[in-house]
Amino acid sequence: MQNIRNFCIIAHIDHGKSTLADRFLDITGTIEKRKMQEQFLDQMDLERERGITIKLQPVRMEYVLDGRHYTLNLIDTPGHVDFSYEVSRSLAAVEGAILLVDATKGVQAQTIANLNLARKQGLVIIPIINKVDLANARSAEVEEEIRYLMDDDKVEILKISAKTGEGVAAVLESVVRLVPSPQASDTPFRALIFDSAFDTYKGVVAYVRVFNGNINSGDKIKLFASGAASDVVEVGFFVPQLKKEKQISVGEIGYIATGLKNPGQVRVGDTIFKSEDISQIQPLAGYKEPRPMVFASFYPESSENYDELKDALSKLKLTDASLVFEPESSPALGRGFRLGFLGMLHIEIISERLRREFKLNLIISTPSVEYHVTSKKDEILKIRSAAMLPDPSTMDKIEEPLVSLEIITPVDYVGQLMNLVAECRSEYIATEYLSKEVVILKYKIPLGEIVTDFYDKLKSISSGYASMIYEPAEYKVADLVRLDILVAGDVVEPFSKIVPRERAQFEGRRIVEKLKDVLPRQWFVVTLQAAIGGKVLAREDISALRKDVTGYLYGGDVTRKKKLLEKQKRGKAKMKERGKVEIPQGVFLEMLKK
Ligand code: GTP
Repeated sequence: MQNIRNFCIIAHIDHGKSTLADRFLDITGTIEKRKMQEQFLDQMDLERERGITIKLQPVRMEYVLDGRHYTLNLIDTPGHVDFSYEVSRSLAAVEGAILLVDATKGVQAQTIANLNLARKQGLVIIPIINKVDLANARSAEVEEEIRYLMDDDKVEILKISAKTGEGVAAVLESVVRLVPSPQASDTPFRALIFDSAFDTYKGVVAYVRVFNGNINSGDKIKLFASGAASDVVEVGFFVPQLKKEKQISVGEIGYIATGLKNPGQVRVGDTIFKSEDISQIQPLAGYKEPRPMVFASFYPESSENYDELKDALSKLKLTDASLVFEPESSPALGRGFRLGFLGMLHIEIISERLRREFKLNLIISTPSVEYHVTSKKDEILKIRSAAMLPDPSTMDKIEEPLVSLEIITPVDYVGQLMNLVAECRSEYIATEYLSKEVVILKYKIPLGEIVTDFYDKLKSISSGYASMIYEPAEYKVADLVRLDILVAGDVVEPFSKIVPRERAQFEGRRIVEKLKDVLPRQWFVVTLQAAIGGKVLAREDISALRKDVTGYLYGGDVTRKKKLLEKQKRGKAKMKERGKVEIPQGVFLEMLKK
């Protein structure tokens, strides 16, 4: 165990974690050269397409330094704030963290947030400046920012290029030198579940850090919180695929295939122990469940697929522990689920995974934060969707969640960013200098103002340099109303939204204009309206399709042409009669995007 080092790489998004992990895999010969592809540890299609890491990914590497042999267990983590729960779980499984900072971007929001998480966990931090090969690298200033942040003038900061490999060997040497080997503590066996996956044959596979003792396949195990029991099907390590071993022991990171088929029985943060030790076991400290920030309703397009959606969500929950969901039903849409997310990217990724991995067609509502409504009878209701907002005449007040927001930005963009924040009903708190060039702007701001397109605006104003983090703060009374969207005279519930009264008209106009662009035309004129109560605030019409259905019939087959036109007329009449407009699921996805 003296030769084990468990560590992870933490950074702001795009600072080069996955690329650095690639170099480690090269140097240690974990992946053969011919099999190597960029960002090797990003295994999901979606991750590779978008160039972002969504899931944490462990890998075990063998490494020789000065004639001594070491086992290095690395966990690569995502950088985007919506996936920070993956980071905090990784941190509980390791003793050290490489804090990677891009030499051109410097310290950014997730650098600070992730450093704080690692510190709370008591980890050894190894700061590294990456991308020094780039012409616009400003390593000296970035070094100053890191020292300020770590409150340490003397900390050693290596400068590397994960892309060219320059300086990377020294990073592994630092890991061996600075990260402590795991503490020895043999019995009884205990392991912390930090992630999981589902395998049709092996059941739920728990990703674990072993804190005491050892475990073999065939051993009888129990899970502390869920109480589930089973015989271990298989144990092993990540190379990074699952590699079967006879045993995994104290200090190691590996997997335990539980054979359990019900995903709900294996939860991250739970402790696995051997059934024989039941009388003497204490659980390991688990994780604080992440608090969902935004909610959206998901309904299957066809109600027969309700059970499939339910099954898909429990399976997704295995690989994404931050996902929460509860059943919900609506008169208009039938049975579905209300899902809680950490942010908009999280919603997009989950919708996309449900579509791709589970082939589900879904209707998705406009995301909403959680409002607190006090009724005239003094009851307090938690409202997570516009559709659930009670009639205004029955409400005493609505309160909305505020967050403490920190924007980290080069000084050049401060003016424009302050203007942006001022439009969002914010309250200025303070400015702090991280260095001569970089400041932190602090605000109180309604969460609802920043969960949608705020981040994109911040990025575009600052050419990608500014970044932000936020934490929940108190609730505050606000003048909010429910804005409904009507298509052909019918309220389309998923499009309803809770908005500040003063902005209702503007929002309503924006939504109907966008809807006009994305909704397919029909055989008849379709009216789009935005309204509060019965009062219409904005209106657009989508003109009728004028396509001549006979157009493709060349020549003069008059009878056929007549027949077709007749058919079209009947079709139109029928649809008009129903007055219903079919809204394809693509439209819901489009409306989610800003
Ligand atoms: P997330 O996991 O999504 O947060 O990203 P990441 O931190 O894993 O970053 P990734 O390794 O995907 O790198 C982001 C981009 O920076 C990619 O285009 C890399 O090729 C590039 N990159 C990483 N390291 C270096 C480097 O040392 N030099 C240069 N020039 N580019 C680099």
